[in-house]
Amino acid sequence: MFDLSIHGRVYTDRLLEGWVYVTGGKIAKVSRERSGKAAAEITLSDSQFLFPAATDLHVHLRDWSQRRKETVETGTKSALAGGVTTVADMPNTEPRMNTVEAVEKRADLMRAKSFADFALHAGPPDSPGSFAALKKAGAFAVKLYPPELGRFTEVLKETTRSRMKLAVHAEEFALVGTERAHLAEGVAVRRILGGLASTSEVRFAHVSTSDGASELERAKRSHSGLTVEVAPHHLFMSDEVAEERIGVTSRVNPSLRSKANAAKMRRMMRLGVFDFYVTDHAPHTVEEKFQGAPGFPGLELALPLFLTKTNDPALVSRMYCEAPAAYLGLRKGKISQGFWADMVVIGRRSWKVDPERFVSKGRVTPFAGETMRYSVEHVFKAGRTVFSGGRFTKTISRLAVDGHLH
Ligand code: NCD
Ligand code: ZN
Repeated sequence: MFDLSIHGRVYTDRLLEGWVYVTGGKIAKVSRERSGKAAAEITLSDSQFLFPAATDLHVHLRDWSQRRKETVETGTKSALAGGVTTVADMPNTEPRMNTVEAVEKRADLMRAKSFADFALHAGPPDSPGSFAALKKAGAFAVKLYPPELGRFTEVLKETTRSRMKLAVHAEEFALVGTERAHLAEGVAVRRILGGLASTSEVRFAHVSTSDGASELERAKRSHSGLTVEVAPHHLFMSDEVAEERIGVTSRVNPSLRSKANAAKMRRMMRLGVFDFYVTDHAPHTVEEKFQGAPGFPGLELALPLFLTKTNDPALVSRMYCEAPAAYLGLRKGKISQGFWADMVVIGRRSWKVDPERFVSKGRVTPFAGETMRYSVEHVFKAGRTVFSGGRFTKTISRLAVDGHLH
């Protein structure tokens, strides 16, 4: 007897009609025929299909002194509402996450309040060394921001030594916000690649220009450890349209670019340049957005948006489910025997993006008013229902480090 069975259309590596069986939080069997009884049996409707839940490698969950912007609870509920069951949190919190004490506190807070499984990025510690201690405290990776890029070589040495990942926001700090801001990414990408060994593990965060992306495409051929993120607003939004819709509140780092650039980015995505689709979920209050705070909330929207804009479940499942989970070393992101039963029931239902209805505290997005053609209707995490009918259930949330959930 299984714990749970789901019958209907299922996305494995294609859409098939069948049964998914779950036992002990994991997928026990996927088959085209009914092959046993389950304590709970669910049948999907004709307009629904089962899809792997997503893993988002780049989110800012705030909390602490920034609870006005977002809390771990609102941010991770927002993740579940968007079909995301695993999130990797960024370290630009207040206080910053670059000490053992802060990372430990963060892990405790996440365990207590997060509705999703999670991984933590740390910032580089103020003095060299002590990376191993950050890892022991729970950080799987270090993230570098533009003002810190001068420390790249030193930090890469330390992350390599302590077997941590390294993520970089590659924009030349001196150019950001100037007339030549569109060059900032290419310049920084070239500088970083210039000093890189062929095996170095570096993840380029939210690459936003076709210039930066083409450099990385070339470099990936000879550098096995390079990975590249892309965010929804750099693929499916332009500076022009955002400005028209939401004016000064359209600020984000890296900036939105031209329509032509977004079209090139989408073409490069089809060629496989980008490994991971990430929201860069960066919520702020409306007042702060009017004062120029950069970033948008994205977690509730990212999966339906990606499916709507591409109609390509294979691409979506690879870039938002399978690859990011594999990067964390987790058996998630695929509906396949032995994987965690983190799955989403997607409905073919149209709805309009209304940020006033977001679970996130962030309410400003340039996608407001757009029509989505897919909706997240039910979410399972480790075989348990965690989101259904607009309601959330908190289950145990685990920390991902070294490819394990703790
Ligand atoms: C980020 C944030 O708000 O934390 N904002 C963003 O636009 N991506 C920080 C940042 O990268 O500047
Ligand atoms: Zn970010």
